[in-house]
Amino acid sequence: MKSSDIRQSFLDYFEKKEHTIVRSAPVIPAEDPTLLFTNAGMNQFKDVFLDKGSRPYSRAADTQKCIRASGKHNDLEDVGRDTYHHTFFEMLGNWSFGDYYKKEAIAWAWELLTEVWSLPKERLYATVYQDDDESLEIWKTATDIDPDHIMKFGDKDNFWEMGETGPCGPCSEIHIDLTDDLSGRELVNADDHRVIELWNLVFIQYNRKADRSLEPLPKKHVDTGMGFERITAVLQSKGSNYDTDIFAPLFDAITAHTGVAYTATLDGERDMAMRVIADHARTLTFAITDGAVPGNEGRGYVLRRILRRAVRYARKLDCNQPVLYRLVGVIADTMGAVFPELKKQQATVEKIVKSEEESFLVTLGRGIEIFGEIAAALKASKEKSISGEDAFRLYDTYGFPLDLTRLMASEEGLGVDEKGFGACMKEQKERARKDRKQKQQITGDEGQWQWFEQKGPTVFLGYETLETEAQIIGVRIAGSQMQLVLDQTPFYAESGGQTGDRGRIEGENYIFDVIDTRKDGDVIVHVAGTVYDRATGGEVTPESIAFSQAVQVQAQVDKETREATERNHTATHLLHAALRKVLGEHVQQKGSLVGPDRLRFDFSHFEKVSAGELEAVEAEVNERIREAGALVKHADIPYEAALEKGALAFFGDKYADRVRVVEVPGVSMELCGGTHVSNVGQIGLFKIMSESSIASGIRRIEAMSGKAAEEVLWGDYQELQQVRQLLRTGGEESVAARVQELLEERKILDKKLQDMKLSLLLDKAIGELEQADTVNGCRIFVMKYDDSGADTLRSLGQFLREKIGRGVGLLAGEEQGKVTLVGFAGDEAIRECGLNAGELVKKAAAMVQGGGGGKPGFATAGGKNPAGIPESMKVFEETVRTKLQS
Ligand code: SER
Repeated sequence: MKSSDIRQSFLDYFEKKEHTIVRSAPVIPAEDPTLLFTNAGMNQFKDVFLDKGSRPYSRAADTQKCIRASGKHNDLEDVGRDTYHHTFFEMLGNWSFGDYYKKEAIAWAWELLTEVWSLPKERLYATVYQDDDESLEIWKTATDIDPDHIMKFGDKDNFWEMGETGPCGPCSEIHIDLTDDLSGRELVNADDHRVIELWNLVFIQYNRKADRSLEPLPKKHVDTGMGFERITAVLQSKGSNYDTDIFAPLFDAITAHTGVAYTATLDGERDMAMRVIADHARTLTFAITDGAVPGNEGRGYVLRRILRRAVRYARKLDCNQPVLYRLVGVIADTMGAVFPELKKQQATVEKIVKSEEESFLVTLGRGIEIFGEIAAALKASKEKSISGEDAFRLYDTYGFPLDLTRLMASEEGLGVDEKGFGACMKEQKERARKDRKQKQQITGDEGQWQWFEQKGPTVFLGYETLETEAQIIGVRIAGSQMQLVLDQTPFYAESGGQTGDRGRIEGENYIFDVIDTRKDGDVIVHVAGTVYDRATGGEVTPESIAFSQAVQVQAQVDKETREATERNHTATHLLHAALRKVLGEHVQQKGSLVGPDRLRFDFSHFEKVSAGELEAVEAEVNERIREAGALVKHADIPYEAALEKGALAFFGDKYADRVRVVEVPGVSMELCGGTHVSNVGQIGLFKIMSESSIASGIRRIEAMSGKAAEEVLWGDYQELQQVRQLLRTGGEESVAARVQELLEERKILDKKLQDMKLSLLLDKAIGELEQADTVNGCRIFVMKYDDSGADTLRSLGQFLREKIGRGVGLLAGEEQGKVTLVGFAGDEAIRECGLNAGELVKKAAAMVQGGGGGKPGFATAGGKNPAGIPESMKVFEETVRTKLQS
């Protein structure tokens, strides 16, 4: 059976059992800060398990794109070493949301494996959680598995958890014995490739809380997951996932590029390298397709490390050129029918991967140099071991894994402080863990909800109206805030980049000043900043409000901020379309923030957007605004139909099966749940404020629209008018030319001023030189000049040196808090009295917290302490006197 048929037969089987076949969620979780990557099929249903969301079906099945390269489920280090781990894989899964339970889950899994796919029963083992006798009984009675093949295991193997927190429960796994002589019993759960887990049936019953406690869920659910690559290997009678038709095209492409063939050995270094490259290319392709970008933080950093691991392994194939990007097209060709997004994003993904590969190859070269420097320094100081910090720096900054450092070190006769390396690594992990925890707390679960009515999805009325009657059906206190849930609301909850609405909720006794609106599953939460007592108008604390039942209120969105936000949102769609028109179709939305005062749009593009292009984009948007086309909003159409119409989807967003499409006819069509103006003309004006880079291949534009844009331009215009008045330029005359003229005039005047100052000082100094003290026939000239800097004093010093003959001088000047000392000695004074201006100035400079020096005839120094000038002059003079008298 071909792998594509296996996938299809799984879906067909569960469709017959009345499951709705759903799309894979993106591999980048849209709304879950506890996860870097989608790590299981159940992720997209987390809200259903936690009773925060619902679906129009109670049974579902799919194939889910998964990445396990970080967090609780991380297989990165195993990839390549064995035959059945991947960082990217497909998980075939079926779910029951409070519908069927253990019996059906177990019986159907058994039927599909043994009846439909005819796997030999004697090779299958079932494991159950240590105290789950119910499942054990079901295996015995509802299937014909050999009872000796049912085994119990503990928390580590048979209690499945999604992450540090979230849905979890006991599970029952099906393993297959691939040994020749059916001797695999002892190898179940022993991490041995001869007996591997095929399918995990999880009975979700709890929510793991941050304090590690288990909270029972209101309903019991089934969540199953089967590794698609593993079942394919088994059904194709291959000993390794990598020997199936899923990987063959990738190996062919690697061979075509490197000349190295895959020989399917477990230990061969080159075969291992090829497995790593093929696996990692899939992870990078799927993750970047869904909107992630290699970078320095979070998931970007995980991807960067994965890419670097693959590039290093490519060196084992003597390949020092970018190779991964060449596999993106192979993956799009072979998997594009199941995941159409791959084709659409192919060109962008290739560019990102290639540029990241190229830059890492340079880094790797630099790392080899750094290693050389470290090794040379150690040898010079006769040390024997590379420090943990250095090994970690090579790992973290230059992408060297410990084994590479170890190998290179041993070639130099050196060891590595692996304990120290481990400590650095632990520190970094700790930092990352704290970061994740903090993020989790921001969306926190603090405060208990008090419900007055059955909790259910909030009815959103905000596309049509900004005001409505409603009932408060749930409240909670979170920190100093009061949060409210209504049965229906016009308030838009933050999502898709658009900020949450503000406004007021007024009841008989209280007025709630709503400062933000957020989603919690399919419930809309209104965050009240301040609560007022209706009778007195005074503020009340959330704790003093006691509701015992649902109360009637009037909910009213702040019209001005909502409308400003809508102008920015529609302007964002026009900007997206204009960027695609001016820069090209490779432009894809990578993120956006739409608030009342500004908008921010991130998109893929590989160079700076030039000033000319920005102007063209801005002009294009404003042209469309002047055309004043009416918007068309298609509510509730099937996702596939929307894409067929040509609507742009933001890759990486999780879309429901039925979606909303916002269209500016002839200009733009996007999947979008946000709120918009009804006519493009209402935007009024669009102004780009800045363009910058936020990651490699990703640019950001910040812009304004409507009244905010008008205010900015109006402010600039008024300032220009003031400048015109000050310069007395007429309407026709260019202000810039006039300012240029003034700047040039000023330069000339500055120069004249300097010359005049110098000539005055010179005249004066000549007179003073005549009067200077003489010791042993040598003149000593010491003088302070206010408001004089280095240029003036140097010129003066040079002039006086010519005049002084047998004598020395020090000029001390101060300008804007900076001290300049200039010392000089005539040729005769050097020759006959042994005086040295360089030494004298150095000594004097110490008094003004400065340094400097120069030649015996002429020297300068700068200093920071003007208060020390008199002292520096005294030191200079005394040193000279002492010298002359000795
Ligand atoms: N969530 C379980 C797993 O990932 C079953 O789908 O193994």
